[in-house]
Amino acid sequence: MTNTLDPDRLRDRLAAMDSTAAVAATSVEFVRSPGRVNLIGEYTDVNDGFVLPAAIDREIRIGFVRTDDDRIVLHRSDTGDSGEFSLSDLPTRGQGWLDYAVGTAWALSDAGLRLHGFRGVIETSLPVGAGLSSSAAIELAIARALLGRDADVDPLQLARICQRAENQFVGVQSGLMDQFAVACGRSGEALLLDCRSAEWRPVALPLAEVSLVVCDTGSPRELAKSEYNVRREQCEAAVAALQRMDPSVTSLRDASPAMVQAAEGDGLIDAVVARRARHVVSENARVITTAAALEAGDLAAVADGFRQSHASLRGDFEVSSPALDTMVEIAVGTPGVIAARMTGAGFGGCTINLVRPDAVERLSEAVERDYATRTGLTPRVFPVMPAEGAGFFEPG
Ligand code: GLA
Repeated sequence: MTNTLDPDRLRDRLAAMDSTAAVAATSVEFVRSPGRVNLIGEYTDVNDGFVLPAAIDREIRIGFVRTDDDRIVLHRSDTGDSGEFSLSDLPTRGQGWLDYAVGTAWALSDAGLRLHGFRGVIETSLPVGAGLSSSAAIELAIARALLGRDADVDPLQLARICQRAENQFVGVQSGLMDQFAVACGRSGEALLLDCRSAEWRPVALPLAEVSLVVCDTGSPRELAKSEYNVRREQCEAAVAALQRMDPSVTSLRDASPAMVQAAEGDGLIDAVVARRARHVVSENARVITTAAALEAGDLAAVADGFRQSHASLRGDFEVSSPALDTMVEIAVGTPGVIAARMTGAGFGGCTINLVRPDAVERLSEAVERDYATRTGLTPRVFPVMPAEGAGFFEPG
């Protein structure tokens, strides 16, 4: 897999699929939409808290021709699958990968936005289903293509609309982080988002001193969908109990470690719910300290934040997995790796590593050497750069 896709290839495939595209090659337009890694702040977005993701230079691209009818025809070049639907008669859920496109069309129409039909080819340099928000990337890419180049829609608003597609059409009760990062990404920077106010600011990364490296555990994330919603219910149970102690608590954002401890001590929450709440409360604090440490270039403090985050996700929130733990262990045992933790919803997927630039190869070798023998799984290791959010581009 390469970091850039070839626009000519995309154009050729589109032409092969639809002769009108061949006739009017100049009418072929391109959108790109990045994946994301989260540097820190897991399961805090759904608790009104803070997150620190970055869009990455692994992305989904769609080459398409706009049409005057209301049909969407899509071909996936990674799997060879095709699908189509009509904007005026949207199908119900259950079309597999096409759900993301249909759901996005539904959410955009429901927001009163004007959409156009198109025929397009999707290509990806982003591993699909690996926990790097390929679904949010597809949603934002489709949204941009449906709206067209001239649509004046704020990226944050678009992120919210695509989150609605995911929540209400696809059926995962996810927060705003993924769609936000994909829509609002900034080249070379991470994004610190307050999920309560939706205020955000870029956070510069010390990229001369650290490279961002993603390690894909190659393990399936089947549990992620069902367990994700269970975690949300547990957090809601914690909020309901804490509210009885202090009516001003409306989310775990408002809770302190002492409150969680008191609620458990008084028997208002059981040990499992207490651990879930403890993770969220401590993780929120870590996002703030880690963002500040990154800006100050205090890499030892960043390493602490990552270590504590992973331990909390493993022990208290219980969303890590043996594969993720092994990947982190290998990384932190490799000289030159500054910090490592799981990223995203967990249950498989990827880790994010901050690595001295001259140690990237060493990490790659260590993973190649040790990971498969220890887990029986096939890993992938790739450096990423923080990238711009989804939008149109001119192929060079
Ligand atoms: C998934 C969700 C996000 C977020 C993370 C966990 O990626 O889509 O909203 O909750 O999990 O931090």
